Amino acid sequence: GKGIAVLTSGGDSQGMNAATRAVVRVGIYLGCKVYFIKEGYQGLVDGGDNIVEASWSSVSGIIHKGGTVIGSARCKDFTTRPGRISGAQNLVDRGITNLVVIGGDGSLTGANIFRQEWPGILDELLAQKKITEEQRGKYGHLNICGMVGSIDNDFCGTDMTIGTDSALHRIIDCVDAIVSTAYSHQRTFILEVMGRHCGYLALVGALASEADYVFIPEWPPEIGWPTKLCSKLTQEREAGQRLNIIIVAEGAIDRNGDPISAEKIKQVVVDNLHQDTRITVLGHVQRGGSPSAFDRVLGCRMGAEAVMALMEATVESPAYVVSLDGNQAIRLPLMACVEKTKAVAKAMEEKQWDLAVQLRGRS
Ligand code: F6P
Repeated sequence: GKGIAVLTSGGDSQGMNAATRAVVRVGIYLGCKVYFIKEGYQGLVDGGDNIVEASWSSVSGIIHKGGTVIGSARCKDFTTRPGRISGAQNLVDRGITNLVVIGGDGSLTGANIFRQEWPGILDELLAQKKITEEQRGKYGHLNICGMVGSIDNDFCGTDMTIGTDSALHRIIDCVDAIVSTAYSHQRTFILEVMGRHCGYLALVGALASEADYVFIPEWPPEIGWPTKLCSKLTQEREAGQRLNIIIVAEGAIDRNGDPISAEKIKQVVVDNLHQDTRITVLGHVQRGGSPSAFDRVLGCRMGAEAVMALMEATVESPAYVVSLDGNQAIRLPLMACVEKTKAVAKAMEEKQWDLAVQLRGRS
C-alpha cells in the first residue's frame, strides 16, 4: 500500500484530532500504511521516533480531546533547505510519498515548497548515495494535501477552518458568565478575543452574545469612535440595561491603523462615563478544551477527503487543500487559496479594508 504521513503544525486548534483520526482510519481502510509525524515539521526533520506507523486503535479515544495528540510546533529548521532535505530522507526511508499537513497558511506554504523541491532534493540524495536508484524512481513525486486548523477562520477558500466553531462556543460561554457578574455590579466589561488580524471570532461572538459594541480589524471605526461608543453605551443604560459588553478583536485598529486595545477602550469609558469597568482577556481558553460537534465532524470529513485527494492525485495534480464550501468538503488548489489569503493581508496593510473583506469572501 501507499505510504501516507500526517502532521499538525503551527498553533493547535480543536478538531485537529478528529482530522488526524480520519486520515489514519480512511488511509488504513484503503490499504495504505499511515504514519504519524510527531511535533510538526520538527519531527519530520528529526525523524527517528518522531515518525511512527499508526494503527486503527492508535486513534481511538481522541476525537473528544482538544489540542493535537501528535504534538505541534513552529519549526525554524524546516524553513531551511537542509531541514527539508533531512525531511525528504526520512520520508523516502519509509516509502512515504503522501503528506497531509494540518495547520495554518504558513505551514501549508511550507508543504508546497517541499513538494516543489522534492525531485531536486531526491537527485541530491541520490548523488550523495543516501537513497538508491530504485528509491529515486519509485518515490519521485510527493503528493500534498492540507487542511486548515485554526480558530481564526482567516483562510481564503473555506467557509470554516477547523477549531473556529469550538472557539466561538468558548467565547459565548465566557460572555454569558461575565454577563451574570456584570449584571450584579452594573458594570461594563471589555472582552478581548483572539483572531490575529481577522475579526471573525469577535464579530460572530458579539452577534451571538448580544454584545453592545464590537471592534474588528476589517471595520476600523472613524477617529471620533469614542463619542459614538459612549453615546451607544449611555443609550443602552438609559433604556434600562444594567451592564454593557464590548468585544474587541486582538487585532482591532482605527482608521489610522493604530491598535484599539481593551485598555484604550476602558480609558474612554471610565473618563467619559465613569462606569465601573473591567477587562477580561480570554486568551488561550479559546483554543483549548473539548472540540464542538461541528469541529469533530468537520475534522472527520476533511480528513477523509484529504486521503481521497491523495489517492486520486497524479503527477499533474496540484497540492490540494480541503475546504468547506456550501457544506461540502471539497479539494481546491492549495496555492491559489494561499495567494488569496496573502492578498487579504496585503489589502489590510494598505488600509483597503473593503477589498480585504471582498477578497475573503464567504470565509
Ligand atoms: O492563530 C491562532 C492564534 O490563537 C491567534 O488567534 C493568536 O493571535 C495566536 O494564535 C497566539 O499565538 P501563541 O499561541 O503562539 O501565543
